[in-house]
Amino acid sequence: MNAPTPHLRGDYAAAAADFTLPQHHALIPEADHQTWRALMRRQAALLPRHAAQAYRDGLAKLRCEDGVPDLGQASEALRGTGWRLVGVPGLIPEEAFFAHLAARRFPVTVWIRRPEELDYLEEPDIFHDFAGHVPLLTNPAFADFLQAYGRLGAFATGHGALKPLARLYWHMVEFGLIAEEGGLRAYGAGILSSRTETIHSTTDATPLRLRFDPARVLRSDYRIDDLQPTYFVIRDYAELFHVVDALPDLLLRARDAQPIPPGAREPGDQLI
Ligand SMILES: [Fe+2]
Repeated sequence: MNAPTPHLRGDYAAAAADFTLPQHHALIPEADHQTWRALMRRQAALLPRHAAQAYRDGLAKLRCEDGVPDLGQASEALRGTGWRLVGVPGLIPEEAFFAHLAARRFPVTVWIRRPEELDYLEEPDIFHDFAGHVPLLTNPAFADFLQAYGRLGAFATGHGALKPLARLYWHMVEFGLIAEEGGLRAYGAGILSSRTETIHSTTDATPLRLRFDPARVLRSDYRIDDLQPTYFVIRDYAELFHVVDALPDLLLRARDAQPIPPGAREPGDQLI
């Protein structure tokens, strides 16, 4: 969700003013489908133990294990929550990103990583955007939260509070954990599109796992180049939606407060 920079590999010249472009699903080479299947197979082995139930249910609805999914067809599977997938060349400017979310359109990068990049990629590709984010869009509470997040974009822009708003996305959309009956599970897309982070976030002893507290999240800086040292844990997805009304005020307070470094402890933190 940062502004595109020249090193990005997507075809930004082919995109419309809202940064969308057609996926041309029929033209996707077989090698890309193979890469998709390889990525899906690796993650599938980890999901029963590490992924949230809502994520697994959503993934099953999407039926996307056989190859790079068709964004139009997959949008049909999201009819229940009214979301639609749109193709984009990659990262897009914040303003466009917020506008899509506010209209229940989820931007999905149309290209996939190279076979030698199965483990790590700097930019989000279709595996991250689709396999990571789209399953949760079948969950009504999470789907409503994400739209509300998009609507807050204009407020945050107008009040100099984009940084705390980005922290909310990072911690609760990309790297969120949920406490389920069987234990801690991951639902965040940044976790579930990375084998290493899937295991690290849910089972390693090293990271801090803190009970979700929106004021704390909005002040918490994060790592962009390494595994997260701090994760926040929700009880259910409704909890995210329920804080939406309080967010404008909390964003302003976080804007004016000292940021909390990644991995630091604060008085009042509730360890999970
Ligand atoms: Fe993402």
